[in-house]
Amino acid sequence: MTWKTGTRLDPESCNEKDLGKFEISVRDGQARLGKLYTKHGVVETPCLLPVINPNIMTIKPREMWDKYGIKALITNSYVIWKHENLKLSCLENGVHKMLDYPGAIMTDSGTFQSYVYGDVEVEPDEIVSFQKNIGVDIATMLDVFTRPDMTFNEVKDAVLETINRAQISIDSSKGIMLNGPIQGGVYHELRRKSATEMCKFDFAIHPIGGIVPIMEQQKYKELLKIMLVSKSNLKPNRPVHMFGCGHPMLFPILIAMGADMFDSAAYVLFARDGRLLTPWGTEKLSEIEEWPLMMPAVSNLSPEDVRDMDKITRTEILARFNLEVTLQELARCRQAVRNGEIWQLAERRSHQNPALREAFLWLITSPAKIDMLPFVLDEKSASKDVGKERGIWEENWDWFVTAQNTPKKGAEAWGGLDTFNRPHVEMAKRRLNARWKSRKNGKVIVFYGTSPPWRNKIGDLINRLCGLDCDIFISTPVGLIPFTIEDMNPWAHIEGPSWIWKKGPDYSMLRVELERLGIKDRDIVTIDISNTEDLHKTVFDRIGHSGNDSDPELRHSQSIIDKLCILFNLDYKHSELICKQSKFVMSNTGRVKNMIDYQGSHLFSQRLVEGGLSLTVNGAKRLHQLRSMEIPSKLPDIFAPKPGEGPPWIVVNSDAEPFIEQGRSVMHGFVIAYDSWVRPGEGVLIVNSNGKLLGFGTSQSTCQDLKYFNKGIAVKVRQGCP
Ligand code: GUN
Repeated sequence: MTWKTGTRLDPESCNEKDLGKFEISVRDGQARLGKLYTKHGVVETPCLLPVINPNIMTIKPREMWDKYGIKALITNSYVIWKHENLKLSCLENGVHKMLDYPGAIMTDSGTFQSYVYGDVEVEPDEIVSFQKNIGVDIATMLDVFTRPDMTFNEVKDAVLETINRAQISIDSSKGIMLNGPIQGGVYHELRRKSATEMCKFDFAIHPIGGIVPIMEQQKYKELLKIMLVSKSNLKPNRPVHMFGCGHPMLFPILIAMGADMFDSAAYVLFARDGRLLTPWGTEKLSEIEEWPLMMPAVSNLSPEDVRDMDKITRTEILARFNLEVTLQELARCRQAVRNGEIWQLAERRSHQNPALREAFLWLITSPAKIDMLPFVLDEKSASKDVGKERGIWEENWDWFVTAQNTPKKGAEAWGGLDTFNRPHVEMAKRRLNARWKSRKNGKVIVFYGTSPPWRNKIGDLINRLCGLDCDIFISTPVGLIPFTIEDMNPWAHIEGPSWIWKKGPDYSMLRVELERLGIKDRDIVTIDISNTEDLHKTVFDRIGHSGNDSDPELRHSQSIIDKLCILFNLDYKHSELICKQSKFVMSNTGRVKNMIDYQGSHLFSQRLVEGGLSLTVNGAKRLHQLRSMEIPSKLPDIFAPKPGEGPPWIVVNSDAEPFIEQGRSVMHGFVIAYDSWVRPGEGVLIVNSNGKLLGFGTSQSTCQDLKYFNKGIAVKVRQGCP
């Protein structure tokens, strides 16, 4: 043993008023890092609750706390209830003492036993009361397990019976946190029903149940469908727990889709079988000469050493190895969320297993996109699901995409054709397509053939072209953009092999992309800029014009006008008005740093890292004055864009007013209304109920979050406006 009992302090109970609450501290699309407040400390999510069998503890709960820092575990209240000695000990001293574990304890209810062995002999209220009486932190109601081989009617009965048992279970829990599992087998309609109905009860957490056989059969596409339909119909302020899911290979994609907690006995079950878990699959101890990962549990041992050991010692070592791998992959996922890269991790992992790859492709393949892909994927066309079974995808994909943050900081690593379908890339394009408008009628010039920064290569040329009656675009590996946003993420920040920039645009594709930008029936001129020799002459010859005098100011102002529309949802009339006779302060690399209006007010700054715009107090005031819509008075729970209506407003109550004016964050619980186009990463104006501007910042929340959360930061305020 290399760990010592008591090396980690016991947790402190959370404040009474916070018990059972969940808050998001970091988000990346629908993935979130959260905090769950329990009587036995704060549980940071996403996390894995190792399953402890109270009869055979291969790794002791105390070691899990002290050595591995595991803040919560799960055991089975039905197993305890069935064994007289365990039952008496727990009733007398509590479950924490019996397991010798100071962290949060979740218990399951016997549902899984009923799936494995047939029936259980306990009543729904009895098992919940028992969990309350033995002092668990999070109990589970006795839900009815739904297997993938059950008929629709059988599953429907199970879902309805689980819903029937909800209230009595909540009554029996007498205020402790309770799990309300979502059932529904493989029937999406029933999963939706289960989610929407179970949500109406006062559960603290919603586990997704009935997925163990689906995972055992590697039906990952089914799993993702279940996840998509269940999660998008649940209240976002309740953590989602994946019952029986402990294979690290599945963590990234499930976390990207909003999973917060996992539990599994896999670490020990696989160990007993001589199998090793890795983030890319499973390996057999009998078949390896080297460890797939060098974990602390085996650092001084070879696979052969472990093979030669007696079964109990071998199982213990492999269980530790598996637990360490599992914890490491979760840590990797959490860091990916912090870095805004959880989707890229899921994308990489999707290549590790054919069934997971199929599931991933199902998720990213839209029938609407198939016709417009510059890279029509054989892999995708072969995904036979395209066209059918798309219902749940079509209903729920927006929920996923509109939660994505864009523009992001940092490089967009080229990941092959998948790059095109990353949800934040899709969101960036949707926003561009919805908010950008052409104000020209003449030719459409499309430059291609070279990597950014394009301003260094053709900035001078654009200075001579920007006053003409033509639209100028750049073809990037992830789609077409107006030259005015040539420095914006993700388009300008793709990092990959040089050939991705060389490819000329495909004509039919180009037309589709232009149509999405509102451009139809115009002459298109495509120009390769990989060779800049005589470029000006070539371009002027091709467009039949000799070009204007160089006008860099015009280029800069067109860029700011477009960005104001794209990033702050202004309409062109307002954007042009604001930028009229504006002046620019330039960076020493020749980029616009600050925008000063005709009265000398500094309104916006450009963020040179990702090409976004930041408001100043004066800028926020200008945007605030433009509003013609009424002050928001509702709490919409579905994102609904309103192009041209300006940045969304968030109305806070009077308690919050002085704090926002001092520049403090808007906390959930103080928001009383907001516009339906609020999204994470979107710039917002914060007002009081009379519409007075209090501050401005960046939303951390979706509409749904604003409606349901009552703890945590809703909007990060950049500055207050006293
Ligand atoms: N453990 C694994 N799956 C399930 C489930 O569907 N319900 C409950 N209560 N526990 C589980």
